[in-house]
Amino acid sequence: MFKSIRLAAASSKRPAGPLVVGVTQDSNRVPSGIDMTDEEREAVRDGLNAPGFKAENGELVWAGSQTILLGLGEADAVTADSVRQAAGRLVKFLDRAAPRSVRLAVHQAIGRRQLAAEQVGRAVAEGMQLANWRVDQFQGSASKLDPPHGTLTLSVDDKTVHAGLKRGLALADATNTARRLAATPPNFCFPQSLADEARKLARSHKSLTCRVITFEQAKKMGLGGIVNVGMASAQKPCLIMLEHKPARPVKGEKLALVGKTITYDTGGYSLKISGGMKGMKYDKCGGCTVFGAMQAIAELNLPVHVVGLLPAAENMIAGDAYRPDDIITLYNGVTVEVTNTDAEGRLVLADALAYACKEIKPTAIVDVATLTGGIVVALGHFCSGVFTNDDGLMDELDAASQESGEKIWRMPLWPEHREFMRARHCDIWNSAPSRNGHPIQGAAFLSYFVDEDVPWAHVDIAGVASVDSDRDLYVQGPTGYGVRLLTDWVAGHAGS
Ligand code: BES
Ligand code: ZN
Ligand code: ZN
Repeated sequence: MFKSIRLAAASSKRPAGPLVVGVTQDSNRVPSGIDMTDEEREAVRDGLNAPGFKAENGELVWAGSQTILLGLGEADAVTADSVRQAAGRLVKFLDRAAPRSVRLAVHQAIGRRQLAAEQVGRAVAEGMQLANWRVDQFQGSASKLDPPHGTLTLSVDDKTVHAGLKRGLALADATNTARRLAATPPNFCFPQSLADEARKLARSHKSLTCRVITFEQAKKMGLGGIVNVGMASAQKPCLIMLEHKPARPVKGEKLALVGKTITYDTGGYSLKISGGMKGMKYDKCGGCTVFGAMQAIAELNLPVHVVGLLPAAENMIAGDAYRPDDIITLYNGVTVEVTNTDAEGRLVLADALAYACKEIKPTAIVDVATLTGGIVVALGHFCSGVFTNDDGLMDELDAASQESGEKIWRMPLWPEHREFMRARHCDIWNSAPSRNGHPIQGAAFLSYFVDEDVPWAHVDIAGVASVDSDRDLYVQGPTGYGVRLLTDWVAGHAGS
């Protein structure tokens, strides 16, 4: 892998390094419009006829010593997603020769109607940057990992593709930030450390400010969900907020992003079985996604006012832990019977949603959470599940999903689901006695904390936040799912 991937300035003169030429399966011709020497053209022509080279998507071959052919598959089948996959293969292929820079000539082979030049640039950068990531900050003296190569510099001679590459790198960098935080284990990553990270992020972006509601303040303010879930941990809970206020925001829009940030989920007294606890460092992935999205939104300077909220807590066991049967009052005064301390994510999210509605007054809210194992049973690792009270918001998220390639699927949320959550001794319970449809129960529970007139969507990412083994662009570990989906959703409000 490379230490980092960066973009050469648009105006820089022809840099050194191999030329990467994209070719589709059905064309035996050298794509037109590429600035290359006769020698390079000859090498590409020879490469196209190399025995065994079929230009399948992601297939790679050296054509001479200075040119690489990158297969893009059938011309009609090229999509942003297929280009991302191919670019992921490219960065792994480059690992062997480890050049310091490459010139990209990929967009020339792709029809404009198929994919706009900027989208090609974005997809190439995303694929390369996402596939070039690994968790290496915990390697010790017995490490077997190869040290990383230096920086890889990308250059391209088309201004539009260059802009796409820049956007793609920003989005993938932000996704990798989310992955880095998510991969950090609970002995290093806890509510306070995430608050420190958020303050650091805010310091490095002019448009961002950070505010943290501490445990003591949360107790006084009546944030009963965050307080109860987090109080048994030595690492006390908090509510972290990152606000992006651009110089000239779109008028009348204020978007809120809320992410479940359980830095570790033991289940509490409704203890998880040991096999079910492993991997629960990823229970903060919703918050990490919001963190990454706020980085991308600031980096791209999107002209939309956005507030990100991370209700952060560690779900632990101690003499002062909350227990099943407790009745607690959340921020908006709704009383909750805790039937299961392992249904903790909805309690911290509920406070953050109610706080957002009352104090921030957003025009729309999207929350992301590793909320239920049930969504993994229902949808597998293929997509997240979206619950929403607003068809227009669903359309916006569908558009963002198309753009980012992060797949979503709508789930039902009806009045009868809300009724199902009503308790006998207080308003609602956090988990109904029957576990049937429990991902829907989670969404129905959350709906009690969102003002009715606010478009809101809950995205259950339990199946997509991490992968068990290396797959496509991702190595085993966190995927940063949702950073690009949320950023594209916000960008949709900016009209860009
Ligand atoms: N963090 C878990 C959900 C989860 C499970 C995420 C597996 C990723 C993989 C959540 O807090 C939880 O424990 N949910 C319970 C809900 C139940 C108690 C209603 C579940 O899914 O079993
Ligand atoms: Zn839980
Ligand atoms: Zn959880």
